[in-house]
Amino acid sequence: MNHFDYRDGELCCEDVRLAEIAEAVGTPVYIYSTATLERHYHVFKSAFAPLDVLVAFAVKANANIAVLATLARNGAGADTVSAGEIERALRAGVPPERIIFSGVGKTEDELAFAVRTGVHQINVESIAELETLSRCAAALNAKPAIAIRVNPDVGAGGHEKISTGKGDAKFGVSIDQALALYKRAHADPRLAAKGLAVHIGSQIKDLAPLEAAFKALRRMAEQLRSEDVGIERLDLGGGLGVPYFHEPDPPSPAAYAAMVNRVFEGMDISLAFEPGRMIAGNAGVLLSRVIRLQERPSRPILVLDAGMNDLIRPAIYDAYHDIKPLKQAQSAPLQSYDVVGPICETGDTFTRNRALPSLEPGDLVAFMTAGAYGAVMASTYNARALVPEVLVRGDEYEIVRRRWTLEDQLALERTPDWL
Ligand code: LLP
Repeated sequence: MNHFDYRDGELCCEDVRLAEIAEAVGTPVYIYSTATLERHYHVFKSAFAPLDVLVAFAVKANANIAVLATLARNGAGADTVSAGEIERALRAGVPPERIIFSGVGKTEDELAFAVRTGVHQINVESIAELETLSRCAAALNAKPAIAIRVNPDVGAGGHEKISTGKGDAKFGVSIDQALALYKRAHADPRLAAKGLAVHIGSQIKDLAPLEAAFKALRRMAEQLRSEDVGIERLDLGGGLGVPYFHEPDPPSPAAYAAMVNRVFEGMDISLAFEPGRMIAGNAGVLLSRVIRLQERPSRPILVLDAGMNDLIRPAIYDAYHDIKPLKQAQSAPLQSYDVVGPICETGDTFTRNRALPSLEPGDLVAFMTAGAYGAVMASTYNARALVPEVLVRGDEYEIVRRRWTLEDQLALERTPDWL
């Protein structure tokens, strides 16, 4: 459930008319709902009650400081994949003991930063990384808590480009390697070996692959314990899908939690999760204005002022985003459109042959389910201004990232003296 609804024929976010924000801030603009972020976090967290699990929001899904601070205040941790994301999480008020540092390409500097910060856990993805981390820990006279990321050879996810758990993916190490690596970390006086981690993909709509991966993790933990190698934590990653309107609903957090509780029943071990999309996806929309209609013999093209630089998911994952007019359509017949942005690329096509209510230049539309992997993946391609972000709470709203204009871009550039 989210807090984007029509009221008196106008699409609202909580108690604010989206058209009001479009007029005040301009378009394109991302808009997030505080109540939806909070609701999704609590629905997920409370699904595991009475177990107290760590829910570390995947910062990569939405790194806006105000969004992170909203979740942090509600008790969320942060799953991070760069020093920049750790810094953002800290500045948003996430305590280090709720920060997980994951990722396949952490540099030595980033590892040292995470060790100095005293994060909850560093998820190590290779033997080479383990060696670097042990060296860093020695230099800093610290003993970081680590988990080994396992690649359980289970594929899952809404698109091949967002599946991470197959054997030949670049993430994690095989089950056998992970066991060996964990034992090695356990024996290393510089490292506090705490657990194992998995993350097999994103937008997962079926519990079976997740269950297979979690069972593999349980078997591994039991094997380690049978060899007297202590293990106290499991990090089960993110990946739970969200409803994208035209697809059947993915499993609910309650069904997911029931499966997790079943798999780990009777095992004394703490669990952590790294959901991103499930918390932020349906908590945000991208507003855009129709620039013009281009007539064609087949069907008209709707040219919007948002482009693939603002929302890249349709271009790279063929992702479907529901498009809603801000003014609720009356019963008029639907019209089929191709919906495109202004970028000079054929890939800048949000959708083809989409049935929508009739739209005119100047009309406003909202791309739904754009709160995760939307603004974070935006760029300034075609010298466009970086899209702004707005956070709504009840009947108030605040610009939480202003539009980053051409002047901002040019301020970072320099013409050499010889020109
Ligand atoms: N943990 C790890 C280690 C991850 O790699 C990811 C996502 C997550 C957690 C969060 O997964 P979620 O709960 O959001 O599914 N840009 C793509 C999604 C890429 C996901 C990458 N990893 C998209 O727009 O669909």
